[in-house]
Amino acid sequence: MSKRIVVLVSGGGTNLQSLLDAQARGTFGDSRIAGVIASRDDAYALVRAENHGVPHLTLRRGDYPDVHAYSLALLDAIRDFGADLVVLAGFLTIVDETLCRAYPNRIINIHPSLIPSFCGPGFYGLRVHEAALAKGVKVSGATVHFVTEECDGGPIILQKAVCVQPDDTPETLQKRIMKEAEQVLLPEAVRLFCEDRLAVENGVTRILSQEGSL
Ligand code: GAR
Repeated sequence: MSKRIVVLVSGGGTNLQSLLDAQARGTFGDSRIAGVIASRDDAYALVRAENHGVPHLTLRRGDYPDVHAYSLALLDAIRDFGADLVVLAGFLTIVDETLCRAYPNRIINIHPSLIPSFCGPGFYGLRVHEAALAKGVKVSGATVHFVTEECDGGPIILQKAVCVQPDDTPETLQKRIMKEAEQVLLPEAVRLFCEDRLAVENGVTRILSQEGSL
């Protein structure tokens, strides 16, 4: 059955672009990116949505009295788009449990490290790569996971490792992880969801074969 995908963004939108490109290649079958919601007016991701004719809107955290009111507004907008799947593609604004309770195992997030390393509160964007380099890890990468009430703690869907180079800066590591891991994993995870091939049992995601079994 075709799905309506709603993508939440805050910044450049390279992950959104990887989804738009995958959709154009037919990767998601009949499923469609039905809407994009940004947390900032100046998110370049909005330009990408506009260029592809995808309806979009902005909901600013500062326009709401607290995190709960903001989360309720987001939920309303997500429902208005008729979402079957919500993708947090570099959405860097804090929300409460309202969203994941309304869409259990139907919200996925991309995180730029190999969870459970360098994740949780305070680990987002460039900060993740700064922490990885400060620790001297030789391998980092990206993770796509379902969103639960535990920050970056939901069932892992896909992971991809990327080698750290001796001369890496946070910026070069971020760029390589985006290109080699995030932009590969996110369309793949969305495709698996659209094909009803992700099953969560006891906090662990199983990927089903096309026939519906392991
Ligand atoms: C990406 O690297 C994404 O993994 C990260 O923000 C960046 C957004 O880039 N997300 C997090 O850190 C979530 N904790 P984009 O706007 O170009 O897709």
